[in-house]
Amino acid sequence: MDNAPSSEYLPLKSDGDWSHAFSYHPFDVEIERAEGVFIHDTKGNRYFDASGGPFAVNLGHGHPKINAAIKSQLERFAYAHPTLANRPRADLCKSIASVTPEGLNTSYLVSGGSEAVETAIKIARQYHVACGRTGKYKIASCYESYHGMTLATMSLSGNPGTLRHYEPMVSHWPRFHQYSDYKRPEGVSRDDWAVLTARELERIISYEGPETVAAVIATPHGSGPEYGVVPPARYWQEIRRICDENDVLLIADEVVTGFGRTGKWFGMQHFDVVPDIMTFAKGINSSYLPLGAVTVSDKIDAPFKDGAYFVHGFTSGGNPVAAASGVAAIEAIKSDGLVEQVAERGRQLFSHSERLNRHPSVADVRGWGLFMVLELVQGSSDRSYFPSDAGAEQRFQQIALSNGLALYSTLYGARRRPVLSRGLPMWIAPAYIITPGQLDEMVDRLDRTLHQWEQAMGVG
Ligand SMILES: Cc1ncc(COP(=O)(O)O)c(C=O)c1O
Repeated sequence: MDNAPSSEYLPLKSDGDWSHAFSYHPFDVEIERAEGVFIHDTKGNRYFDASGGPFAVNLGHGHPKINAAIKSQLERFAYAHPTLANRPRADLCKSIASVTPEGLNTSYLVSGGSEAVETAIKIARQYHVACGRTGKYKIASCYESYHGMTLATMSLSGNPGTLRHYEPMVSHWPRFHQYSDYKRPEGVSRDDWAVLTARELERIISYEGPETVAAVIATPHGSGPEYGVVPPARYWQEIRRICDENDVLLIADEVVTGFGRTGKWFGMQHFDVVPDIMTFAKGINSSYLPLGAVTVSDKIDAPFKDGAYFVHGFTSGGNPVAAASGVAAIEAIKSDGLVEQVAERGRQLFSHSERLNRHPSVADVRGWGLFMVLELVQGSSDRSYFPSDAGAEQRFQQIALSNGLALYSTLYGARRRPVLSRGLPMWIAPAYIITPGQLDEMVDRLDRTLHQWEQAMGVG
């Protein structure tokens, strides 16, 4: 059934059955079932899962191979006593090593992206301690980045709007600016700008003292207002050089980009740069069960193989059912040629860029693979967004839902101010299995949504 354009979609009232869920505020659309690229609600409406939740459901809903692996593992054992060998855990680590860049061969399994980033921080710090560099403890990250919601990962994520509620944060973390096409001065090439931007990291390391900096963490693409900006390869190559010269480890946070989303297995492969540590979640098993991983290079692994004891562990880390779902997801991506398929469908998605960019509310269309970001603005030339009391996100989401599209970041934008006062990055990230016909239909619905939203908000 198609959605009636006049439907009113309102945020759920936090009463009755929902009153016991702390801080829970979705729209009043109750999911009944989901299959492939679609979510169905209890009223018979169907929605494109147009962003895979938050870039999470990469293989679509109800994937038969992942479902079968989960069922089969459940029937054998659902939990593994930590002192006894857990075969699915070994299988998943082996499976990850079969696709990660050369030299990154060992993984630590956790339950999600925030845990993966926390784990990566601890590995980086303990690696230096094990090598006798005990003063190296700082982790540098980008302003406006996002690496998770625990206190330590929030300390890395440079968003004053969200940090304010929890300060003082865990530690002193140095920050540097990310690559920005928007801020690139006229007459400076992307490559030159990339090198200039990257060199800010060099300056920060020298100010902090290289003997105090353990690692740098960043996503392969831009974050915050620069969400989805793909920097030139020179940017990452320069960051790699600076890290090498200062004995600083490079952690690539591939929680979003890992396992095919960008049209390559990993985002960093677009730049020919190999990190020391990579963090994963989401696409590792299409988020069917809580799962994440940290994969390290042989260099980082060496002192631990030689006996350094990693003081870490979560009760659910390496859960056999979650691990089995990861093995099945990676196997499906390989056997169904889905990385190549993402590259192809990505070209189809971006063939619509011009059409979407023609909207006065769309300041930029960017991204890679099946990872498109529209920067939504008020329509003015300075890329400013609507004031928080204009209800722009809520209106957008309501109109999108009435057009049969479930999107994600529109709900989050208002809460992220003031950093996102520039423009709201809206993600388009359908499942890898979307057909060419479905993809065109999804973009048509998006086009219509933008048009109706502009009318409702008086843009254009
Ligand atoms: C780049 C990045 N790192 C870490 C995280 C945290 O992952 P999780 O929500 O699974 O804890 C996210 C979540 O969106 C992310 O985008």
